[in-house]
Amino acid sequence: MSDGVRIVEVGPRDGLQNERIAIPLEAKLRFIQSLRDAGCDDIEATSFVSPKWVPQLADAASLWPLLPAGPDYSVLVPNLKGLERAIELGVKRIAVFTAASESFTLKNINMTLEQSLEAIRNVIEEYRSTTPDGWIRGYVSTAFECPFEGSIAPERTIEVTRKLFDLGVDEVSVGDTVGAAVPVEVKSLTKMLEDSVPMEQIAYHFHDTRGTAIANVSTALELGIRIFDSSAAGLGGCPYAPGAGGNLATEDLVYFLHRSGVPTRIDPDRLAQASREVLALLGRPASAKAQQAQLSASGTSPR
Ligand code: HMG
Ligand code: MG
Repeated sequence: MSDGVRIVEVGPRDGLQNERIAIPLEAKLRFIQSLRDAGCDDIEATSFVSPKWVPQLADAASLWPLLPAGPDYSVLVPNLKGLERAIELGVKRIAVFTAASESFTLKNINMTLEQSLEAIRNVIEEYRSTTPDGWIRGYVSTAFECPFEGSIAPERTIEVTRKLFDLGVDEVSVGDTVGAAVPVEVKSLTKMLEDSVPMEQIAYHFHDTRGTAIANVSTALELGIRIFDSSAAGLGGCPYAPGAGGNLATEDLVYFLHRSGVPTRIDPDRLAQASREVLALLGRPASAKAQQAQLSASGTSPR
């Protein structure tokens, strides 16, 4: 394996949206700065969602103009109101989101699946007409498992993924929202996706609730997937998905990739520093396995 992969760092968005406390703007900026210094060049910075639904990211519009130069940044946009906020700030990369499961879509964005696809159609049309150089990612959450409906048949995930491409997204990130998937499921979904969508535009977004994320990445990588989402320190989860654990930790992903001969631009030591800072702020111990190993090798307790 020598082809590089693209890592989308989602800690500032997926990570911080799920924290009980909203961390101050200056601390978010420091976290993002440290991620940039560690070599993260593709960062999902925040969300233009309703501040009533996700108060942790209510400062999105203040954060955006202050982001340190260098990385490509993107933001989550759920509807035309969110898009209006993004356009006003000149955002060039947005992410729209829906799910393979009807129940999760209702809980997460108060829309049926069909309504969410209609909302996405409107967002894409408006964004393309106002921002011709804009780039759009689409998310399909609950791609394997829904916290309300249980197992999701791959056909359902594929159908929503196809619809997003038909609506004009540039990339789809397939999300294991509650971190339930295992490699055999990833293999079968990936093989089925191959027949209907452009695979070089597929990313995987694994949460690591049950410790299966790296095994899933390994399987996807062998099948040619080259875009993976992860979160520094393994922060993350969705406030509207009960049982969702943190994202795959970027430390664990980078360790796995480098040791497998797959280069990235991320410096593990500087990444560990970024994670330590944000964990100290949140008052939490290291949860990334790679970071725990580093701490115990240096004689420092991870707890
Ligand atoms: P709603 O309550 O049905 O919407 O929420 P509404 O249109 O009735 O609006 C309610 C209030 O919010 C109104 O304010 C609106 O103006 C305001 P009021 O009149 O009461 O003062 N509002 C907004 N304000 C700012 N920005 C906006 C916006 N929209 C409405 N964009 C809505 C519908 C979609 C807005 C809401 O459900 C929402 O924001 N949901 C987002 C939930 C969320 O962020 N979830 C986590 C992200 S998804 C995820 O984590 C999964 C992922 O990681 C992949 C994976 O793991 O699978 C991506
Ligand atoms: Mg997520």
